[in-house]
Amino acid sequence: MEKPISILATLIVLLLYASDCLAAPSSRNSLFATFLNCLKTHTNQPNQVPNIVYSQTNASYDSVLKASARNARFSNPSTPKPLLIITPLNENHVQNSVLCAKSIGVQLKIRSGGHDFEGISYVSQAPFIILDMFHFQNVSVDVQNEIAVIEAGATLGQVYYRIYEKSSVHGFPAGVCPTVGVGGHLSGGGYGNMIRKHGLSVDHVIDAKIVDVNGRILDREAMGDDLFWAIRGGGGASFGVILSYTVRLVPVPETVTVFQVDKTLEQNATDLVFQWQQVAPHTDERLFMRLVMQPVAKRTMRASVMALFLGGADEVVTLLEKEFPLLGLKKETCHEMRWIDSVLWWANYNDGSTLKALLDRSHYRVHYNKKKSDYIQTPISKAGFNLIWKKMIELGRVVLIFNPYGGRMNEVPYDATPFPHRAGNLYKVQYSVTWEEGGDGADKKFIGEIRMMYNYMTPFVSKNPRSAYFNYRDLDIGVKMHGKDSYQDGVVYGSKYFNRNFERLVKVKSAIDPQNFFWNEQSIPSLGSNKLFL
Ligand SMILES: Cc1cc2nc3c(=O)[nH]c(=O)nc-3n(C[C@H](O)[C@H](O)[C@H](O)COP(=O)(O)OP(=O)(O)OC[C@H]3O[C@@H](n4cnc5c(N)ncnc54)[C@H](O)[C@@H]3O)c2cc1C
Ligand SMILES: *[C@@H]1O[C@H](CO)[C@@H](O)[C@H](O)[C@H]1NC(C)=O
Ligand SMILES: *[C@@H]1O[C@H](CO)[C@@H](O)[C@H](O)[C@H]1NC(C)=O
Ligand SMILES: *[C@@H]1O[C@H](CO)[C@@H](O)[C@H](O)[C@H]1NC(C)=O
Repeated sequence: MEKPISILATLIVLLLYASDCLAAPSSRNSLFATFLNCLKTHTNQPNQVPNIVYSQTNASYDSVLKASARNARFSNPSTPKPLLIITPLNENHVQNSVLCAKSIGVQLKIRSGGHDFEGISYVSQAPFIILDMFHFQNVSVDVQNEIAVIEAGATLGQVYYRIYEKSSVHGFPAGVCPTVGVGGHLSGGGYGNMIRKHGLSVDHVIDAKIVDVNGRILDREAMGDDLFWAIRGGGGASFGVILSYTVRLVPVPETVTVFQVDKTLEQNATDLVFQWQQVAPHTDERLFMRLVMQPVAKRTMRASVMALFLGGADEVVTLLEKEFPLLGLKKETCHEMRWIDSVLWWANYNDGSTLKALLDRSHYRVHYNKKKSDYIQTPISKAGFNLIWKKMIELGRVVLIFNPYGGRMNEVPYDATPFPHRAGNLYKVQYSVTWEEGGDGADKKFIGEIRMMYNYMTPFVSKNPRSAYFNYRDLDIGVKMHGKDSYQDGVVYGSKYFNRNFERLVKVKSAIDPQNFFWNEQSIPSLGSNKLFL
C-alpha cells in the first residue's frame, strides 16, 4: 500500500532544505541585486538583464507566475513563491542564469509549459527561483528533410500548427492537450493518440540542445550517448536546461477518422469494456481507442470510447464490426477530417475555435486537480470491473482513463529510452479528480478519494514495482525526504517511473551533475564521488 506523504514528512523535508541551503540569501532584495549583478557581469548584453528578472515586488510578478500555472492547487496564497522569476530571451541568458543560481546557491526550477501535475516546475519548499522558458517558442519545420527543431518553451499546439502550415501529410506523435509544453513533455516521454502507430514523442527525437551545470551548451554529439538517452524520458530537470529538441516528423494520411461512443452500465458498458480490453491493445496499430470511465450521478457509470483512426471511416467501421461488435460503430458516428482538425477535436476545442487556437497558450481552464497512474498487464475480469465501478460510484468523482498500448510500443526495447513501459503492458490507467472549490477541506477530500481508488486498484495493476508514468507526476509514490542526494528515496519513485532503467539514469546524473545542482522533489539522485556503488 502506498503511504500518502504525511505532514511529518513535509516537516522533515522543510528542515532538511533549511539545513541544505547554507548559502541561502539573507534578504530577498539582496538576492535580487546579487542575481542581477551576476547576470550583468556575465552577459554580453547587460542592458537586457533588467527586462528578464522579476522580483516579488515587480508589478507583473504575479501574472508571469500564474501565466502557466496549470493547477489551482498551487496558486494559493499559502503556496511557496519563487524569490525571482527569470524569463531568458536567448541561450546566453540561460547559461548565465544557471551559473548565477549555482554561485548564489539557490534552487533553480525550470518551467516550460507549467503542466506538471504536482506543480514542481513552479513550487518548492526550499528557497527557489524559476527559469521560465516562455520566450523559447520557435518551431522550425523542414518538410524536405522531415524534421523540426522545437524550442523547449513551445507548446504542442504550436508544434502541430507549424507542421500543418508546411504540410498536410506530416504530423508528430505527442500529447492531446495543445497547451502542454515541449520542455517537460518531451523530456518525460510524451504520448498521444498515435502511440500505437508511432510510439512516444521521445522515439522520434534525433538531437537536442541542453545547458549543463557548467553553463555549457551541448548538442547530441557533445553530450554523448548517455545524456542523450537520459533526456528522452528521464525528465530534463535532473540534468540541465533543455533548449530545444530536433525531431523526426511522421507521415499522416490526408484523411483520418474520429468517433466517440458512450454506453452506461444499463447499456451493458461492462461487456463493452471487457471486449475493449481484448481489442484495443491488439488491433490495427493505426487505431487508438481511449476509454474514459466516469461515475454518473452516484448511480451508474458511463464508458466513453474516443478514437482516432489513421485512415477512412469505411475501413474502421468494417474492422470494428468484426473485432469489436459490442461497440456497434456506425458510419454516421464517424467523422472524417484532416489530421490537424482531429487535433482540435481531441483537444475538445468545440467552442467554435479555429485552428489558430492551437497557438493560444492561454486556451486552458485552470481548476484544482490530482492525478495518478498505473499499468495493466493482465486483463481484468468482468467481476473485477464490477467491483471497480462500485467503488467509483461510491466515491463519485474519480475518473479513470484507459490508454491502450501495443502496436509500435511492443517493438521498442524497454531500455531504448528511459521510459520502460513497453511490451507486456496492455494499457495505462490515468486516475483523475478535478474540483472547483478551493480550500484545504476540498483538497483533502478529493485527494483522499483518488488515493482510496488507487489503493482499491492494487490487485489489478502492475506489481514489483507498481509502475507509474513519469509525466503523470505523483508525489504520493515517493519523494525526497532524506536530503536532495538521497539514493534511498530516489530508488523508491525512480524504480516505479523507470523500472530497470533507473540505475542507468543515476549513472548519467552522477557523471553530468555530481554536485546535484539540478534537483527537485523527484529528481534522479547523484552518487557524487561515491560512484563505486554502481
Ligand atoms: C491538461 C494536461 C494534459 C496532458 N496530456 C498529456 C498527454 O496527452 N500525454 C502525455 O504524455 N502527457 C500529458 N500530460 C502530462 C505532461 O506531459 C507533463 O505534465 C509534462 O511534463 C508537461 O510539460 P510542461 O513543459 O508543460 O510542464 P512543466 O511544468 O513546465 O515541466 C514539467 C517538468 O519538466 C521540467 N522541465 C520543463 N521544462 C524543462 C526544460 N526546458 N529543461 C529541463 N527541464 C524542464 C520541469 O522542471 C518539471 O520538472 C498532460 C498534462 C496536463 C496538465
Ligand atoms: C522589476 O523591478 C525592478 C525595480 O523596479 C526593475 O528594475 C526591473 O526592470 C523590473 N523587472 C522587470 C522584468 O520588469
Ligand atoms: C526565434 O527565431 C527568431 C527568428 O529566427 C530569432 O530572432 C530568435 O532569436 C529566436 N528565439 C530564440 C529564443 O531562439
Ligand atoms: C445487454 O445484454 C443482455 C444480455 O446479453 C441483452 O439481453 C440486452 O439486450 C443488452 N442490452 C442492451 C441495451 O444492449
